[in-house]
Amino acid sequence: MTEQNGRVALISGATSGIGLAVARLLGTAGHKVFIGARNAEKVTETVKQLQSEGIDADGSTLDVRSTDSARAFVQAAVDRFGTVDILVNNAGRSGGGVTADIAEDLWDDVIDTNLNSVFRLTSAVLNTGGLRHKGWGRIINIASTAGKQGVVLGAPYSASKHGVVGFTKALGNELAPTGITVNAVCPGYVETPMAQRVRAGYAAAYDVTEDAILEKFQAKIPLGRYSTPQEVAGLVGYLASDTAASITSQALNVCGGLGNF
Ligand SMILES: NC(=O)c1ccc[n+]([C@@H]2O[C@H](COP(=O)([O-])OP(=O)(O)OC[C@H]3O[C@@H](n4cnc5c(N)ncnc54)[C@H](OP(=O)(O)O)[C@@H]3O)[C@@H](O)[C@H]2O)c1
Repeated sequence: MTEQNGRVALISGATSGIGLAVARLLGTAGHKVFIGARNAEKVTETVKQLQSEGIDADGSTLDVRSTDSARAFVQAAVDRFGTVDILVNNAGRSGGGVTADIAEDLWDDVIDTNLNSVFRLTSAVLNTGGLRHKGWGRIINIASTAGKQGVVLGAPYSASKHGVVGFTKALGNELAPTGITVNAVCPGYVETPMAQRVRAGYAAAYDVTEDAILEKFQAKIPLGRYSTPQEVAGLVGYLASDTAASITSQALNVCGGLGNF
């Protein structure tokens, strides 16, 4: 099958970690990539970096917790590159603690950033981005293995990512006849700035060093190490391809064997 390139791909949270690796991979495959995150300077810097690598990239600020921001982001992408073909809902945050001590605003922010955002940006892409009128499309949601199993001290995070997996399955079934596939990619432990923050959080909660937490986490992973952002991006790239047309409503792990489900 000849793969078509030059599609318009939107990636949220692409100034760091997994999102940046996804933008680079899709851009290198010949797609036009439009990226967003809250920090305007980092968006500008990342766009420049991707362009210097020969990628047709642009971007604007985006806060996935705001419907107005999501719509403005998608409109800016349409103005720059045309209607949207591929959406990667990647922006997310960690967050948790002893559940009885979790403040409601932390709970709300984790759910808003990780789950409501996926509905919000998907809706904006289907409508403002014109995707609902197309016969080909890809929506790829970066969930987590925490979207399939409970993570201790991570109740809001786990709940949000289970929600993302549920949304993915329902929308995938709904859109299946249209040629638009909807899938979730579920990373396990991936070495990114977020992973470092998570280790620091557990080290504080258990009063041990971050190295001790790293060792404990690595011991849980059959492969014995964290996955890389590039390894996660590789699956996103495959799901975005024409060949992946029959894969929809799935939640697929990239986790070194951590999840067996
Ligand atoms: N790393 C892991 O071990 C791991 C495992 C499983 C799943 N995941 C998931 O993978 C995704 C990416 O994680 P990562 O590890 O690559 O994180 P990261 O390095 O912290 O990057 C997060 C990105 O999202 C952006 N972002 C955060 N909040 C945002 C908001 N409200 N609106 C728009 N952009 C926002 C950040 O930029 P700004 O701060 O400038 O907005 C940044 O570009 C997340 O959904 C995460 O839950 C990660």
